[in-house]
Amino acid sequence: MGENLPLLLNAALGNKVERPPVWMMRQAGRYMKIYRDLREKYPSFRERSENPSLSYEISMQPFREFEPDGVILFSDILTPLPGMGINFEIIESKGPIIENPIRTIQQIKNLKEFIPSESLSFVGEVLNSLKTEISNKATLLGFVGAPWTLAAYVVEGKSSKNYSIIKSMAFREPESLHKLLDYFANSIGEYLKYQIKSGAQVVQIFDSWAGQLSPQDYDIFAGPYQKKVVDIVKDEYPNTPIILYISGSAGLIERMAKTGVDIISLDWTVDIKEASERLPKNIGIQGNIDPGILFGDDESIKNRIDITFSKVKGKKYILNLGHGILPGTPEESARTFFEYGKSLTY
Ligand code: CP3
Repeated sequence: MGENLPLLLNAALGNKVERPPVWMMRQAGRYMKIYRDLREKYPSFRERSENPSLSYEISMQPFREFEPDGVILFSDILTPLPGMGINFEIIESKGPIIENPIRTIQQIKNLKEFIPSESLSFVGEVLNSLKTEISNKATLLGFVGAPWTLAAYVVEGKSSKNYSIIKSMAFREPESLHKLLDYFANSIGEYLKYQIKSGAQVVQIFDSWAGQLSPQDYDIFAGPYQKKVVDIVKDEYPNTPIILYISGSAGLIERMAKTGVDIISLDWTVDIKEASERLPKNIGIQGNIDPGILFGDDESIKNRIDITFSKVKGKKYILNLGHGILPGTPEESARTFFEYGKSLTY
C-alpha cells in the first residue's frame, strides 16, 4: 500500500515505512548563510515570502542542502492577514507588527471576505512549482496558524509575553472574540483547502500560543476552532494528514487528539513515551527534540535522536524538533540531524 507515495506522506497516513521521516520546523531561515545572503538583498520579509520566485527559492534552500523528507512552503502564519483586511510587517529582531490591532466589534465586522485564490494566488503558484520540482522525492507541506494564535497576534498587535489584551477580550467581551475566532476558522479552513488543491500533501496547523490558555479556557477559545478548521478540511480532503502543533502542550495533548488531527507535534517539555501512552493508538507523534540540542556536538545530537526514537519505536513517528530551529544554529548540526535521522531503521 502506498509504494509510490513519498515517505513522509506514507508515514503520516499510517502506512508501513522503513524509517521515520525527518524534517524541521523553520528549516528555511536565518541559520542558513544562503538565506542570510538573500535577506540582505531582499530585506523585506513580506517580499521574501510573497514574491513567488523568492518564496520558491527559499523553500528549496534546505532541500538542496540537506534533502529532508519534507519541503515546507516558505511563508508565515500571518501571510493570509492582508487578504482579510489586516496589514502587517515583520521587523528584524522585533517580530510581527500589526498595523491596526483588532480590538473592537466594529473592526471584526469590517473584516473582508477572504478568498485565498485571489489574495494568496502567489501561494498557489509557489506550491505548484514546488510540487513539480520535488515530484515524489519529498513530501510537500503546507501550513496555517490556528484561530487562537492568529487572534493573539491581531488583538495584541505584536508578540506578547502575557497575552493580557486578548485575555481581557476573552473574559470581558467573549462574544467579540468568538466572532473573530469563528471568522479565522472559516478563512483558515478555506486557505488550507486552497493549499492542498495547489499541491500540499500534508498540512500542519500551528496553534503556537494555545499553551498560554488553561485547559478549561482551551476548551472554549482554542480547541473548538482547531476542530472547526480540521472539519472544514477533512470534509473535502479526508485523506490529507493534518499535524497540530502547540508550544507548551504537555497539559493539553489528550484534548489536541480530540480535534480530529492525525498527528500531534510535541515540544520538548514532555517525555515522548509518556505522551504516547496518553494518546489514542491511531494518533501519530512528531517532534519532541529540544532545538537547543543542535548547539551541542554531533554525539549529543545523535544520542538524543536515538533516545527519542527508542521511546516511540513501533509507533507512527515523524522526526522533528520541538519548535523551530533557532537562529545561530550551526548548519553542520542541522546536517547531522537530517543525515543521522535518515540512517534510522524500524
Ligand atoms: O518552517 C518553515 O521553514 C516555513 C517558514 C515559517 C516561517 N514562519 C518563516 C519565518 C513558518 C512555518 C512560520 C510559522 C510561524 N510564524 C509561527 C508558528 C511557528 C512557531 O514558531 O511557533 C509563528 C508563531 C509565526 C509568527 C512569526 N513570524 C514570528 C514570531 C516571527 C519572528 C520570530 C523571530 O525569531 O524573529 C516571524 C518571522 C519569521 N517567519 C521568520 C521566518 C524565517 C524570521 C524573520 C526573518 O527571517 O527575517
